[in-house]
Amino acid sequence: MTTAPTSPLILGGHSFFSELGNDPVPSPELQREIVRACLDGGITRFDTTHQPERLALGRALKDLGRREEATIFAWNFLKELGPEDKLDRPIPYESRHIDQLCRELQTDYIDGVVIHDLDGGSAEVHAGQESVARAWVQQGRVRTLGVWAPRADATARYGGDPAFTFMICPLNVDTPGAAATFELGKSQGWRNFACSPFVRGWTLDRMLEKAQTQEAGDPVAVRTTLADRLLRYTLYHPNVDGAITAIRRLEWVQANIDSAARGPLDEQEMAWLRGLL
Ligand SMILES: NC(=O)c1ccc[n+]([C@@H]2O[C@H](COP(=O)([O-])OP(=O)(O)OC[C@H]3O[C@@H](n4cnc5c(N)ncnc54)[C@H](OP(=O)(O)O)[C@@H]3O)[C@@H](O)[C@H]2O)c1
Repeated sequence: MTTAPTSPLILGGHSFFSELGNDPVPSPELQREIVRACLDGGITRFDTTHQPERLALGRALKDLGRREEATIFAWNFLKELGPEDKLDRPIPYESRHIDQLCRELQTDYIDGVVIHDLDGGSAEVHAGQESVARAWVQQGRVRTLGVWAPRADATARYGGDPAFTFMICPLNVDTPGAAATFELGKSQGWRNFACSPFVRGWTLDRMLEKAQTQEAGDPVAVRTTLADRLLRYTLYHPNVDGAITAIRRLEWVQANIDSAARGPLDEQEMAWLRGLL
């Protein structure tokens, strides 16, 4: 059990596979060490969108014997993969899915279940999956519910429902319109988690190229500075309560914890970041 202060960071499930990033998939041993370093460093919340992420996190926590130290978020990305598919897609939650989520994550309960709207789903289908998830909370299989990128109808859909307590939405230097969604989340009394500070690492790489044309010096140091500022931009944006980021290299766990502890960007740091956009 760690004594480190709880970090506002959440480990993103994209840490555990390579389809949505640049680095190769970490080995199971490295996945376990990343999870261990997170728990030891105070990152105790873990997000899992896709099935490979659930399987990897479940295995790592089981091997470490540290499930009870972790808070796990899971999503309705449950569509079975066909031969051509690389990633599962969201489908409506059905009662049986809680057993699948728990089996894959090797747990008896899920801390937070996220409702992701469906590709072309009707209002009835959306309402149906929400009532399935509410029932899981009543049954004690799920502790709380969250919403992916809520829209203007959030108050009508969820307002005042105590089962819903958080939302997740991308917020980074590439998402100028996201601030309104975070205000909406706060108006519901939710905890707001921002994801993708580095836009899967792709925006970080794009900005790094530009930084290297402007600055002399060690490219690794420039990358470190850029990652630090992008993460703090997201984490200390108004109405943000925590940031979800994927980490595929062990050394980035402590680097990101240290960035989070550094606090908001000052004007000079913000101007430097804006100059790279
Ligand atoms: N974006 C979405 O639409 C979405 C949807 C649902 C859930 N989420 C959640 O949000 C999480 C994070 O989103 P994301 O994967 O899109 O992007 P992200 O966290 O912005 O980017 C992750 C990538 O940034 C790089 N990185 C992380 N820390 C670094 C550091 N200190 N220095 C240098 N590079 C660093 C790594 O790139 P490489 O290892 O690839 O080089 C890492 O894989 C996901 O894992 C998921 O849990 C996102």
